[in-house]
Amino acid sequence: MIRKPLVAALTLSVIWTAGMAAAAEKAAPEQTFGVNRFISPDTCGGCHSEIQSQWANSMHNLSHKDPVYNRVAAFLRQGLTDAGEIQEAESCVKCHTPVGYVTGFPKKLSDDLSAVPEIAVQGIQCDLCHTAVDVTKMYNNGLVLSPGQGEDDPGVKYGPFDDSEPDFHEAAYSKLHTESGICGTCHNVKHVAFGTDLETTYTEWEKSPYNDADPEKRVNCQGCHMRQRPGVPATGSTERPDNPGAATDYSDERPHIFTHYFVGGNSGVPGDFGDVEKPAMAQERLKHAAELALDVSGIAGGKAGVTVTNSGAGHCLPTGVGDLRQVWIELTLTGADGKILYGSGIPGPDGVLPEDTVIFNTVFGDGHGKAVPNLAKAREILSDSRIKPKETAVRTFDLGISPERGQTLRARLLYRGMPQKILNMVPGEKLGPLPVVEMARVSHIF
Ligand code: HEC
Ligand code: HEC
Ligand code: HEC
Ligand code: HEC
Ligand code: HEC
Repeated sequence: MIRKPLVAALTLSVIWTAGMAAAAEKAAPEQTFGVNRFISPDTCGGCHSEIQSQWANSMHNLSHKDPVYNRVAAFLRQGLTDAGEIQEAESCVKCHTPVGYVTGFPKKLSDDLSAVPEIAVQGIQCDLCHTAVDVTKMYNNGLVLSPGQGEDDPGVKYGPFDDSEPDFHEAAYSKLHTESGICGTCHNVKHVAFGTDLETTYTEWEKSPYNDADPEKRVNCQGCHMRQRPGVPATGSTERPDNPGAATDYSDERPHIFTHYFVGGNSGVPGDFGDVEKPAMAQERLKHAAELALDVSGIAGGKAGVTVTNSGAGHCLPTGVGDLRQVWIELTLTGADGKILYGSGIPGPDGVLPEDTVIFNTVFGDGHGKAVPNLAKAREILSDSRIKPKETAVRTFDLGISPERGQTLRARLLYRGMPQKILNMVPGEKLGPLPVVEMARVSHIF
């Protein structure tokens, strides 16, 4: 059963690749398929029920419905007049609603998103990833797809097994699925008009020690993100054990089944959809990402050092939308009575962090050195203070006072998905506050 489709599929992919190379100098050809060629995740879940329930309400499942994405995207689109900026602000659906994009609707953000076909509303789904046969470029979703003809003729589903013989669909081994590139093509985002690197998760991983030349030692995206399950954070600083089990409700047990929770730092949005498992897993992941230490050797002069090591993430800390994700240091000195004598990185009543907060992020510029909060206007990267994998950042704080006996100096590393300052600008019902997760803490009592 497996042999014939495998050969057919390989031939197909060779033709495609050759066609791509010829056309590569011009615009890469866009694939368009009839929407009926994609099979609903509910159908896949009929046999792969455990995998489906892991994926349900993941950020992949919610990529189109995510209210934070939707409202921020609509806000960033508002009032633009520059053609390049508009082109970027309209481009979101290619990754956030990918099945819609490849079946012809929506093609841009300002299309009527309430008219998107139900299957595309399901976001980044089974029959998108498992019909991928190639990647044309390592940014802006260069997946080449080879879907079947719908439920009556589901075609080949590509995956990690070379001995799979399912009855419903055909199956074939795909090296692509076992490597970071299948993720990297969407997890590297370039401004479509200005070429500015907006997200570089794949590139950060590619340059990291996790991308070992020895395939046995290499830790791919899947090695952390598709080994996590409740109680097993599977980060760079924790064990990433096999997950024995079966791929369907009736298949034989295998030594390892990759999990499909796709958990990152987002502990808010899955909860909005009633998920209790994934917010807890996101917190668990964040709590095993970094180490924190205090250096009080200069404390007599009022100086305190805080070091942060990215011990668990296979990319920068934070990664993804690096201008939006916030990882910062909160430092406090409190008296024996609990009164705060010094504080840094404490949000105000409006949820906004003070200007002098020590934060690890990317800042985009307008091409003339001025910071722009709207990624559609990003013509340059002004600064990038995010912490690279396995690297350590040192920051010195001037407390202005030297602590007395009985007082406590405490540092906390905190994570939040987006600045409240931006959320406060989005019109309509108040957005946020987003959950603040404590990634690590350390204290010193004098
Ligand atoms: C973002 C892409 C993506 C999505 C969405 C996705 N998968 Fe997967 N899946 C993968 C990758 C990649 C692997 C193999 C990982 C490896 O070998 O490193 C995999 C493995 C599998 C396997 C082999 C068994 C295992 O888990 O190891 C099955 C079966 C499977 N997926 C079914 C599904 C079903 C059903 C859905 C929808 C409910 C789904 N997948 C959604 C990427 C995806
Ligand atoms: C009627 C049951 C059934 C349905 C429905 C079903 N599958 Fe499968 N699938 C299987 C069985 C059985 C296997 C083999 C499991 C094994 O080998 O351990 C399998 C294996 C797979 C694999 C692994 C292939 C490989 O060679 O690595 C993938 C990927 C997969 N299915 C994806 C899907 C997707 C996507 C859908 C929905 C479009 C789907 N399946 C629907 C029964 C089903
Ligand atoms: C060594 C383990 C490891 C590897 C390998 C790894 N990650 Fe992560 N990932 C983490 C940890 C830990 C976090 C939580 C800390 C953070 O947000 O950076 C995370 C967070 C994320 C986030 C959420 C970003 C944020 O900051 O909110 C995304 C998206 C992500 N990873 C995608 C990827 C992709 C894509 C790859 C492969 C190119 C990958 N990861 C490889 C461990 C890993
Ligand atoms: C079709 C494009 C696409 C592919 C392929 C893809 N992703 Fe994603 N991924 C996204 C988008 C878009 C989001 C964010 C959705 C949102 O936040 O609204 C996301 C979210 C995530 C998150 C959650 C981030 C958070 O903040 O919590 C993780 C983890 C992740 N992806 C890992 C992976 C891994 C691992 C792979 C490869 C097996 C992969 N992705 C393949 C587009 C993709
Ligand atoms: C090339 C693929 C791609 C394109 C195009 C894309 N995104 Fe994303 N987007 C992602 C990935 C991957 C993530 C997850 C990264 C992370 O977790 O930090 C993400 C996450 C987000 C988030 C965070 C959502 C949350 O709940 O925290 C927002 C907001 C967002 N994108 C807005 C946009 C907007 C606006 C556009 C269009 C201007 C856009 N994206 C275009 C891949 C893409």
